[in-house]
Amino acid sequence: MREPNGASGRSSTWLAETRSSYDSDAAGYAEEVQGFLETHPHLRAHLDLFAELVRRDGGGQVADIGCGPGYVTAHLHDSGVEAFGIDLSAEMVAIARRDYPGLRFEEGTMTHLEAGDRSLAGVVAFWSTIHVPDEAMPGVVAQFHRVLRPGGHVLVGFKVGDWTRHSSTGYTGAPISLDTHLRQTRTVSDWLRGAGFLIESESILRPDDEVPGALVLARKPG
Ligand SMILES: C[S@@+](CC[C@H](N)C(=O)[O-])C[C@H]1O[C@@H](n2cnc3c(N)ncnc32)[C@H](O)[C@@H]1O
Repeated sequence: MREPNGASGRSSTWLAETRSSYDSDAAGYAEEVQGFLETHPHLRAHLDLFAELVRRDGGGQVADIGCGPGYVTAHLHDSGVEAFGIDLSAEMVAIARRDYPGLRFEEGTMTHLEAGDRSLAGVVAFWSTIHVPDEAMPGVVAQFHRVLRPGGHVLVGFKVGDWTRHSSTGYTGAPISLDTHLRQTRTVSDWLRGAGFLIESESILRPDDEVPGALVLARKPG
């Protein structure tokens, strides 16, 4: 897998730490999120709307970026779109391939996508940009914009807040070193606008929780 062009020492460090943390904790994470979409109908509804928009606009390939164990990719596939998964962690990709052998999963990083310009109909990033530091986010949303065809859709899910949490223990108790960045919806929408996207909707999930979730749906003009 290629690293981002011109990666600074710092960006290499957060990418390497995120990758090795998820490699160590892939099995624990996969177990934690088993059946997640069945118990989270609001998330399912957002994915279904996204799939409907992609189908309405003629279909095409959809990348689930930061796919983890692959259940979002599988749901998109079952919703009638040509979904494939990309993840930084080789262990996550191995679990996704094991659990969904009929689907395509690749190792890769959202900071430097292998997909060609204007080659995709949709991009989903479900709780994966949460590990990307602020300074790298404009570059990541520029990648999403580059790989989407005009009229393509992007759906970003993330944790809402104004702070960064550092985790040193994974779900299995394994030592990890993982930063999770909580953000306001406005911040994420502004990054997307800055890359050239039109914002279609912003949704806050469980706004009274200590850490709400949020989803921003946007479209590349064209
Ligand atoms: C919290 S998990 C979310 C997994 C899945 N999307 C879900 O909703 O359950 C974050 C995932 O993003 C992946 N990830 C983190 N940084 C990434 C990057 N730069 N490029 C691709 N994947 C990344 C991690 O390896 C991990 O599998």
